[in-house]
Amino acid sequence: MKGKNLDKTLSDIKTKTDTAQALLVFGATGDLAQRMLLPSLYGLHCDGLLPPGLGVIGSSRSALEASAFRARVAESLARYLPAERLADANVQAFLSRLQYVPVNVAEGGGFAALQAALGEQGGTGKLAIFLSTAPSLFSAAINGLREAGLAHEGVRLALEKPLGHDLHSSQAINDAVLDAFPEERTFRIDHYLGKETVQNLLALRFGNQLFEPLWNAAAIDHVQITVAETVGLEGRIDFYDGMGALRDMVQNHMLQLLALVAMEPPAKYDAAAVRDEKVKVLRSLRPIDRAMVTTHSVLGQYGPGAVGGAPVAGYADELGAATTTETFVALKAHVDNWRWKGVPFYLRTGKRLPVRQSEILVQFKPVPHSIFDERSGGLVANKLLIKLQPEENIRLLVMVKEPGLGRNVRLREVPLDLSLSAAFAGQRQRIAYERLLLDFINGDPTLFVRRDEVEAQWQWIDAIRDGWAYHGMTPKRYTAGSWGPSSAIALTERDGVSWHD
Ligand code: BG6
Repeated sequence: MKGKNLDKTLSDIKTKTDTAQALLVFGATGDLAQRMLLPSLYGLHCDGLLPPGLGVIGSSRSALEASAFRARVAESLARYLPAERLADANVQAFLSRLQYVPVNVAEGGGFAALQAALGEQGGTGKLAIFLSTAPSLFSAAINGLREAGLAHEGVRLALEKPLGHDLHSSQAINDAVLDAFPEERTFRIDHYLGKETVQNLLALRFGNQLFEPLWNAAAIDHVQITVAETVGLEGRIDFYDGMGALRDMVQNHMLQLLALVAMEPPAKYDAAAVRDEKVKVLRSLRPIDRAMVTTHSVLGQYGPGAVGGAPVAGYADELGAATTTETFVALKAHVDNWRWKGVPFYLRTGKRLPVRQSEILVQFKPVPHSIFDERSGGLVANKLLIKLQPEENIRLLVMVKEPGLGRNVRLREVPLDLSLSAAFAGQRQRIAYERLLLDFINGDPTLFVRRDEVEAQWQWIDAIRDGWAYHGMTPKRYTAGSWGPSSAIALTERDGVSWHD
């Protein structure tokens, strides 16, 4: 960010009374903190977006000196960020913000030292505390904070997923948090909400007159949401095998995308209005229950195959045991309200698919009557393709006349491309956590997930899992590097729809 924009953001920060004076990161030596959180904070620091006096205290079980922690962070910056962003003066200035206090959360040791390190700020100041630890430690961390006087009304808490494995366990976690931190001071992270293109969905829908009048069942045939990954288990054995794709990806990221596509216009861009509209969508999702689950869901698990030309092992081989965990899921969902009556939302996500690609396809209906005869080559209904990653672009497919003097009009589908990377060339692509950490430090909860949203998400997911268990549905094998089991193709083809690959 440059010039005027940066100045504006800085002045916003300076005038915010809710800005934290210190940021505490639990789990600071862990993978998420080292790979995402600290590099994101570094990015904010370099752009002058962190409040000048903001101290960052890292904490974890390891008994490290602050200097050793800083050295570890310097190594991570070098590993995860391009060399040209690592000017020595910037790195040193960033590292000088960092302190380290070892805390054994499970045994309650170290909280007093933490409080001492915070000094006056600990007692009354504005603090932002990020729990980047295993959820099994949340309760202990919250108790420790409360006992150390670090849960007062100036303190806010950010939590990373997984927040439970079903509605019941998620409620237990939320209750434990609520004991010390009321909802308005609880910031639940879904890192997809920090992605630029995801936020762009709101700009596209509500910043343009063009789309909203057509954004309903009268003009839209169906919506497809795909989050395809090429990676496999990535050494996350304990975590992933207990989760599966439905809970790891659909319960959170994909349902948030669906909510943003389907929501009614909020009255304004603020936390209450946006989240009120999202939760209405989530509550309007038709349950995929025992009666529907066999026809509305497909689950798969990858076997050996090849991705990007390289041979890869099957999931069970990576895991070292046979298991019924799904690494792929495809669903046909419905939002039962006026706007979306009869419009299917097809969702699919999986590991070891042929490409890394996240996108939303809005398929419009054909024009009611074609004035062109068969010599035109026929009309193709419009599509809006919103690509979230790896590249960010928005493409509208429209019909145009092929140039030429022939007597018959020949039509062709041509893309109208909005390449965000080209339109905003020169701006670096930010890590999703930069946006989220900045909002967390400033106390803006708009892009964080409210408890009622999480619970509506779980309720819908639990019904699907109940159906799978009831019918004894287990994952169908697919070859790594393919687009999932053939039944996923049948799921849409039955409706005359093809997945957009
Ligand atoms: C995480 C999931 O929430 O999102 C991972 O636990 C997944 O399994 C990741 O790989 C995908 O995130 P992104 O930003 O790479 O699309």
